[in-house]
Amino acid sequence: MTQDELKKAVGWAALEYVPEDTIVGVGTGSTAAHFIDALATIKHKIEGAVSSSEASTEKLKGYGIPVFELNSVDSIEVYVDGADEITKHMHMIKGGGAALTREKIISAVAKTFVCVADGSKKVDVLGNFPLPVEVIPMARSYVARELVKLGGDPVWREGVITDNGNVILDVHNMKIVDPKQLEHDINMITGVVTNGLFAHRGADICLLGTEQGVVTMKP
Ligand code: 5RP
Repeated sequence: MTQDELKKAVGWAALEYVPEDTIVGVGTGSTAAHFIDALATIKHKIEGAVSSSEASTEKLKGYGIPVFELNSVDSIEVYVDGADEITKHMHMIKGGGAALTREKIISAVAKTFVCVADGSKKVDVLGNFPLPVEVIPMARSYVARELVKLGGDPVWREGVITDNGNVILDVHNMKIVDPKQLEHDINMITGVVTNGLFAHRGADICLLGTEQGVVTMKP
């Protein structure tokens, strides 16, 4: 199977976790896009969605799925999103698609985070994938210097502006042995909006696409 077929398999498998008559949290990226395709087939059974990016919002609206502002929603039962890396502890690196801040906000609200990922995303130690950090534009150089002090090699993702009007630094060469501590330490740097470590709020369930089928991981 191709990587995209594995992503499609988990995107569709996540439908099982969507309760009827609720507003569904929807992530960003190619795996989340497959989930949106699947969600469209049951759109009459859900109230609508809250979206983590302009790109996902556009796709949801294209299917006629109502998209709600998060501020107008009291609770979200389930949030479905991809990951760039995930460990057996359900800690993740996210933000390859630059949507990490909205993803983190929706996952904070959601009761259950269902991660959908192809098998290549499962790792023993986070950090091979460069860690995305969303930064207020005027703080870019300062934050980069502080990230070097934390042991990383930040690279400005030139040409990319997030949906929130900020920039992304991708931090290379970090072997992340204590994801919760690093998530906290990076967020303490003034000018950082948030970073792509999802350790304090990791996934509750991960559907992993493998050659043997969809494997369900839980902490
Ligand atoms: C976007 C994300 C995505 O979930 C992550 O990059 C995985 O993407 P894909 O499903 O395309 O492999 O965090 O900000």
